[in-house]
Amino acid sequence: MDLFRKKEINLNHKSEMKKELKTTDLIMLGIGAIIGTGIFVVTGVAANQNAGPALTLSFVLAAIVVILSGLSFAEFASRVPVIGGPYAYLYVVFGEFAAWLTGWLLIGEFLLAVSSVSSGWSGYVQGFLASLGVRLPQALTGAYNPESGTYIDLIAVLVVVFVTYIVSLEAKKALRLNNFMVFVKFGIIALFIIVGIFFVKPENWQPFTPFGFEGVLDGAALVFFAFLGFDAVAMAAEEVKNPQKDVPRGIIGSILIATVLYIIVTLILTGIVPYTELGVSDPVAFAMRYVGHGTVGAIIAVGAILTLLTVTISMMYSLARLLFAVSKDGLLPHFMSEIDKKHRTPKKATYAAGFAALLFAGFFPLNILAELTNIMALAYLMLVSLGLLKLRKMFGQPKEGEFKVPLVPILPIVSILSCLVLMLRLQAVTWIVFAITMVIGLVIYFSYGYKHSKMNTEK
Ligand code: ALA
Repeated sequence: MDLFRKKEINLNHKSEMKKELKTTDLIMLGIGAIIGTGIFVVTGVAANQNAGPALTLSFVLAAIVVILSGLSFAEFASRVPVIGGPYAYLYVVFGEFAAWLTGWLLIGEFLLAVSSVSSGWSGYVQGFLASLGVRLPQALTGAYNPESGTYIDLIAVLVVVFVTYIVSLEAKKALRLNNFMVFVKFGIIALFIIVGIFFVKPENWQPFTPFGFEGVLDGAALVFFAFLGFDAVAMAAEEVKNPQKDVPRGIIGSILIATVLYIIVTLILTGIVPYTELGVSDPVAFAMRYVGHGTVGAIIAVGAILTLLTVTISMMYSLARLLFAVSKDGLLPHFMSEIDKKHRTPKKATYAAGFAALLFAGFFPLNILAELTNIMALAYLMLVSLGLLKLRKMFGQPKEGEFKVPLVPILPIVSILSCLVLMLRLQAVTWIVFAITMVIGLVIYFSYGYKHSKMNTEK
């Protein structure tokens, strides 16, 4: 048994997919996937229960962790620009077993992100409907929990079905809708900043760290979620015109834009509303209502409802392409790598992804989904930084025109340690589910993937 069989990089292979995406499309795809539930929903609870006004510091910490990983990611994306993102990178440096683990973690991350954002979205929509006097039967309003009379989160399920349908059509069409939504997203954030800045009371930032540094770290481990989605950019490599330049720019560009926006929004948010009152599910809109601007609050709420869709679209788009790539290598069933003749997209992989995501979105609660998304992402990002060290050993320094991580090996090592620190802040239940997921991943690999891998026939 050879768990380390490696793939050659074949940069000349012809993709069946259309090559039409550029840097701006990728930044839009990145922002579409990144800015969402994290800033619009999670900030409230994170400020209220974890970090207080120092949530801004949590965002800075989380951003540093994400940027460090993003650098390794970008160098890989520039030097190994094939579909499958980190899954494909690890195949090249550490071989099949590490690649499968990474692929499995990524599938988990994207799937859970689609599900958690849909679930958060459902909460927002139900709040909005309730304000109009419309209420669904209790059984259909939340995750499976017979004690509270809820069995399925119907709205979350419906949104997954809708997004799956959109993404199974042409990539460009899905992305065009995404691009429009990204502008709406920028618009409501700008509105919040412009109106909110006049209501900031510096005394609300006192005490700045009511929960101490531990609280800041816990906050960072939670709001790490807000940055996920930058990895979606790499997944589109096969549909990008000039992946060597465009993909790293798309990744780093979208992380930086999100970081700046998050820091400003959090500063203003905690400056307007005392952190003790921020434990709500729509903090950004709530802050506007808090200072008597109910209409602005309503506009922001509607905008957030619309734009959370972009996160699910981008994540679903990436998930389908990842399943496509893994299945093309034989590690998952063949039907997932069929390209639909008419739309030239991996339609069946998209349907498979959608089906799994709707089960999670329908039956599991948001808090579990979000923490799990984080742990999966942190785990595979550690593998990516480790992989970068191996990449340099195998292929040396990047060539001219390729993206280069500075200060190797220091930065990748700091990146690995920082991911570990955040992982250790997550709850025990998250770790247990994580361990079970990994065991399932191993069972799939040893009972199916290893036997069906293309590596068997290529030898
Ligand atoms: N970063 C994405 C969000 O915050 C997952 O919604």
